[in-house]
Amino acid sequence: MKQENIRNFCIIAHIDHGKSTLADRLLEYTQTVSGRNMQAQVLDNMDLERERGITIKSHAIQMTFHFEGEDYTLNLIDTPGHVDFSYEVSRSIMACEGALLIVDSSQGIEAQTISNLYLAIGNDLEIIPVLNKIDLPHSMPEEVSDEIIDLIGCEREEIIPASGKEGTGVDKILEAIIKKVPPPKGDKEKELQALIFDSEFNPFRGVEVIFRVVNGTINKGDKVKFMATGKEYLADEIGVLKLDQEPRKMIEAGDVGYLISGIKQAKEVKVGDTITHVNKPSESPIAGFEDVKPMVFAGIYPVETSEFEDLREAMEKLQLNDAALVWEPETSAALGFGFRCGFLGMLHMEIIQERLEREFDMTVITTVPSVQFKAHLKKGEPVDVQAPAEMPEPITIDHVEEPFVKAQIITKSDFVGPVISLCIDKRGILKNQNYLTSDRVEMTFELPLAEIVFDFFDRLKTISRGYASLDYELIGFQQSNMVKLDILLNGEKVDALSAIVHRDKAYDWGKRLCEKLRELLPRQMFEIAIQAAIGAKIIARETVKAMRKNVTAKCYGGDITRKRKLLEKQKKGKKRMRQVGRVEIPQEAFMAVLKLD
Ligand code: GTP
Repeated sequence: MKQENIRNFCIIAHIDHGKSTLADRLLEYTQTVSGRNMQAQVLDNMDLERERGITIKSHAIQMTFHFEGEDYTLNLIDTPGHVDFSYEVSRSIMACEGALLIVDSSQGIEAQTISNLYLAIGNDLEIIPVLNKIDLPHSMPEEVSDEIIDLIGCEREEIIPASGKEGTGVDKILEAIIKKVPPPKGDKEKELQALIFDSEFNPFRGVEVIFRVVNGTINKGDKVKFMATGKEYLADEIGVLKLDQEPRKMIEAGDVGYLISGIKQAKEVKVGDTITHVNKPSESPIAGFEDVKPMVFAGIYPVETSEFEDLREAMEKLQLNDAALVWEPETSAALGFGFRCGFLGMLHMEIIQERLEREFDMTVITTVPSVQFKAHLKKGEPVDVQAPAEMPEPITIDHVEEPFVKAQIITKSDFVGPVISLCIDKRGILKNQNYLTSDRVEMTFELPLAEIVFDFFDRLKTISRGYASLDYELIGFQQSNMVKLDILLNGEKVDALSAIVHRDKAYDWGKRLCEKLRELLPRQMFEIAIQAAIGAKIIARETVKAMRKNVTAKCYGGDITRKRKLLEKQKKGKKRMRQVGRVEIPQEAFMAVLKLD
């Protein structure tokens, strides 16, 4: 394929504005997927993505399109919309020259529309605005077009009205991609530089690396080197990504492809690395991606202590597939050997836990999530604290800093009051307020990360009856009065239940946390005392009474299947339990701190 006839583009949008559905229509229209193989959101191929109806990973797919007497290769990269996965968006953007900016015409511009757009503009992508879901009766094409014009400064005629559901506008979109997105610029005669923008672990074939050739040509059988790791491989198989992989003999500058070379170790592939030739290497790698910054940290422990090594293997494989997951081994007095993991947010954490269970058949316990604090000591270097257990003794600490974010909230003007109250309650400061239209407002706050990563978004949605969107970015650390709150069960400190909280909120937290734990801890044969403490000082106490009866007792004389069912249910419930000392703690208890409001 001539380089002038290649177009690399991505689709960016706020969550649920219809990217994946529109991608389906593009694939159908270009006959990339035939009727028999077509299913809704065909690119969201993970079970989890299908069930939740969201895109978690980016997906690349190649289409061929005949237009005005010429054949074109269109490489489409679908991207996730949720704020937790914005790093996937930034990687996809680096492999493209253009972006379809999809805006739901019944919703208007939302927080991630803006943040993803800025990412795309920052990388000089050509933006094609698409007004989607125009089939909806409550679509507001005029108002939303005004918002788009205001945001990107385009002409009204440039905005393509479309419906991913009904297929309207798909031809216009393809035409705009060909006419407006510039072809890739690379030189196929130069030394090879291919940017790795994704990778996946296939248990049968090893690591599959997805790359965009920026300069040079890669041939099947070439000896290649990954520049950051310095490792060398044979390009056993290269090819392009249609709905399935299609092997090719060579892939030239400008195109997107995959490479399989029997790489067994997940750790060997670094997303953002550059592939070059061993014999004729490029002098420098392509400027890399920004390092992914985890926002939330939590411990992941196997329910069965004997499964620690299996868990390590699963984490390694998962990490390959998810460059944002970082982890290192850790030990907990209560839970034994496990891993301290960094996640992009709570959704990311939930997804990792679910993937470990589904794809690797592991049953795991996740501990109380925390952000990373910085403890400045009276003497010596500051310490990064990613888990409450790592907080130095209070007497040695000079002061503690916590991460702050700049948060953008877009909502209807009716909800400005409640949104501001919520943010103030979360220790936030209103920095800016800007009316997008007479009815919609964009507000900017500075907030502690710890106050927004957990349940903030749910509360925001509740108080705004769903009419609010949120986006945030880290802006740095600020001094805060934080203390470590410990939980004791029958006098024994359970490190995995500790949390770091603001001093003004500590008493209230301690009290409510004890109450919540009383609800969540199952009754056992003995009484359980639950206490919250700051240092040696106990600030709250609750008791779980001892169990009196055998659970199955009420079935005596009843029918046996019911009894069996009850025992079966108990067994299932046991799966996510950990024995700490004499007390059994269910998974929910570790998450109790998140549900206090
Ligand atoms: P994420 O991948 O999670 O970011 O979402 P997305 O932007 O890919 O949205 P998706 O395509 O999954 O669509 C979200 C919802 O909107 C689904 O219920 C779709 O059926 C619906 N939808 C998408 N496009 C249209 C459209 O043109 N018209 C109507 N009426 N509904 C649509």
